[in-house]
Amino acid sequence: MEGFDLDRYLRTSRKLDLTGLDWDDVSRHPVQPWEARCLAYMMDIESHTVVYLRDLLATRAADEPDVTAFLSCWVYEELWHGEAFSRFLGEAGHRLEPDRLPVAAADPYPSRRQRNAWIRRAVGRGGAFGHLATMAGSAVVGDFVALHMTWGAINELSTLTGYHRLIARTEHPVLVDLLGRIIKDERRHFAFYRAQARLRLSRGRQARKVTRWALERLWAPVGTGVRPQTETDFVIGELFAGPAGHKAVREMDGVIADLPGLGGLRLFDDARTAALARLQREPEDAWRTSDQSALSTAPKPR
Ligand SMILES: [Fe+2]
Ligand SMILES: [Fe+2]
Repeated sequence: MEGFDLDRYLRTSRKLDLTGLDWDDVSRHPVQPWEARCLAYMMDIESHTVVYLRDLLATRAADEPDVTAFLSCWVYEELWHGEAFSRFLGEAGHRLEPDRLPVAAADPYPSRRQRNAWIRRAVGRGGAFGHLATMAGSAVVGDFVALHMTWGAINELSTLTGYHRLIARTEHPVLVDLLGRIIKDERRHFAFYRAQARLRLSRGRQARKVTRWALERLWAPVGTGVRPQTETDFVIGELFAGPAGHKAVREMDGVIADLPGLGGLRLFDDARTAALARLQREPEDAWRTSDQSALSTAPKPR
């Protein structure tokens, strides 16, 4: 697989290294409510990875030893990203729905059991695995895995870029440190999915056609369907609204459009435009909590 050394990844994969991260310093700097809401979204998406994996393994991706070896390590790494955000929010004093319990350093893992169970129940009720279920149900095409790998590349790229955007905006030194460490993992994740996507898309015309068709019709930003639309829009509005955000979005589109058969695709830019339009139609008070909102007792703005 050109561009990714799977053997090396498998040998070096490990739990997020938080050695020396100054947890005691988290509460000494303000975590803005908008930052906390973005972090809660990111935490939820990271923690949801295992459910995404379940859907992925229901497809032909499960038949491919290279893919499943990667996924085995990937899901482990994502678990610790979720826990790292959980602890950061806990150290910053944020209590989240539905239990509003504090999360402290000595608490047993996994943290936020009730929240994760609550989100998974809500997702299940809404049948929000629509996208992947549709894809799994359609898995009659020879290299349908090409779509899954491209989908993964898009998710990882937007996660990676979102973390970079948060680093650019935040003034919290511990958050910058934490995100910098997580980004190292996300880069490797993206590299795997992109290399897989490139390989599979370059091999077959049908794979290219199906992938493009599905992305144009089914794709939505990572976290859509897992968290309410208002939360996805909020994060996009905070991280990608201004000129620097728009530039980042265009760069992501450029990277994806560089894959075989995906030239001219503008998924991110279109999603950004749609999210910003919704935010403008229904301007959201950043401190308001919606039915499934991220934050319940976030500190009020100064
Ligand atoms: Fe992650
Ligand atoms: Fe990742």
